[in-house]
Amino acid sequence: MIHLKSVDLKKEKVASLVIPVCEDKTVFDDEIIMSLIRKAKKFKEFKGDKNDEVTFYDLAEVKAERVIFIGLGKLEKIDREAMRAATGKAVKALIKKKLSNVLIAVPVAKKINMEMTSLLEAMLEGAYLGNHIFDRYKNEKKHTPVKKIDFLVKPDETRKYGRLSSRVYTICQGTILAREWVSMPSNDKRPERFARSIVALAKKENLKVTVLGEKELKQKKFGAIMAVAAGSRSKPRMVILEHNPKGSKKAVALVGKGVTFDSGGINLKPSAGMEEMKSDMSGAAAVAATLITAAKLKSGFRVIGILPIVENMPSGNASRPGDIIKTYDGKTVEIGNTDAEGRLILIDAISYGIKKYKPRTLIDMATLTGACVVALGEKIAGTFSFDDKLAEDIILSGRNTHERCWRLPLTEDYKELFKSDFADLNNMSSTRYGGAITAALFLSEFVKDTRWAHIDIAGPAYAKKESSYCGAGGTGFGVRLLCDLLDKL
Ligand code: BES
Ligand code: MN
Ligand code: ZN
Repeated sequence: MIHLKSVDLKKEKVASLVIPVCEDKTVFDDEIIMSLIRKAKKFKEFKGDKNDEVTFYDLAEVKAERVIFIGLGKLEKIDREAMRAATGKAVKALIKKKLSNVLIAVPVAKKINMEMTSLLEAMLEGAYLGNHIFDRYKNEKKHTPVKKIDFLVKPDETRKYGRLSSRVYTICQGTILAREWVSMPSNDKRPERFARSIVALAKKENLKVTVLGEKELKQKKFGAIMAVAAGSRSKPRMVILEHNPKGSKKAVALVGKGVTFDSGGINLKPSAGMEEMKSDMSGAAAVAATLITAAKLKSGFRVIGILPIVENMPSGNASRPGDIIKTYDGKTVEIGNTDAEGRLILIDAISYGIKKYKPRTLIDMATLTGACVVALGEKIAGTFSFDDKLAEDIILSGRNTHERCWRLPLTEDYKELFKSDFADLNNMSSTRYGGAITAALFLSEFVKDTRWAHIDIAGPAYAKKESSYCGAGGTGFGVRLLCDLLDKL
């Protein structure tokens, strides 16, 4: 757990005290801390540069057993993300040293040109998210998370920012939930089981839960979802989570792509990197975690999460290239490529969401195209919308949480590219260029006049390597962004 604390460093015993140090400016006003920093800066090993770190033991000025100084770099370069990285790295260093209690000193916000709320938010996020370890499949647990992380603030600030700190904590828990789901191997999250796991947690938070099983999906004519699921021995599910606070009116609907494994189907993917396709349910994980978090936070806004969950496998029952299916909406689609399965399950979920809930706004989040990763790299999500305000709001939220989004165009003339000779549409474009755009345009054919945005998270949902406040595997991308966004829509 994370707490804000006000401590007399001269009198109270602290196991580890972490002090962030700016290279070219004093960012504290506390005399003791300032004198400690002067001491550290006397040594040429430590300047306060970005990756500098030095530990002192048994200093006379304070009762802390050890004081760990971490560099923030030059003032000009310090922003919210730098603070997340700093506390994330500090916590990771503590984990490596097997230290279990820490007190992290919070600089004076004004001195780094930040609002106290965003400074605290960033420092708490970095520390809490950096403390997450995914090791449930290892018999030998090499590392354990830090048990107690406290933040050193002024006496009047512990209560003033108490609510902020518990909100950040809850949102980070949601992010970690999404990370764990994404990192989990596909044999432990086949659709029935992944759905059950979502339902169990959602019910605990009193969300309204509806699950459509294979029978209902067939009966209600979810032709696209059934076609993608056909090759797998696991049956598809559609999970719907509703957060219905009293008195709220029109809902925001969030749709998340839930492919628990994407082998490509009959258009089998090449083997290099195929294991990463366990992450093809990252959209569903982010949306489910966001709903659970919104319920915990008792958000005043009505939110509905719609999660089509399937496994895309080749088999004697699998859909074939050239097959023509009838979607929930009634339009027919020729399956040009069984590996373009995400857009198929999404259009059925989107059509259903719009018909049943008539949302004011619908946002879908999906690991949809490799083309989006080619365009924007592995850390930035593609964002599409006909609505400038909605696109802008998403981008701003992404800037707040450092889950970066970049808008790409929805150019009408590209719709030519997925015409079919035999059906209303083809799920495959006739060119390999502009694949992120054609996929988004394909979805747009099913949104009618609903205010809609699509976020392609194929790049940032999964990390091959660890970074300052995230381990290798699922990143939980989208949870913090959506939590930030929901309050604004
Ligand atoms: N799940 C993939 C997209 C993906 C690629 C996610 C890389 C994460 C990392 C999606 O279902 C897919 O296979 N897309 C195809 C579409 C193509 C067949 C039109 C792609 O991007 O190659
Ligand atoms: Mn695919
Ligand atoms: Zn996929």
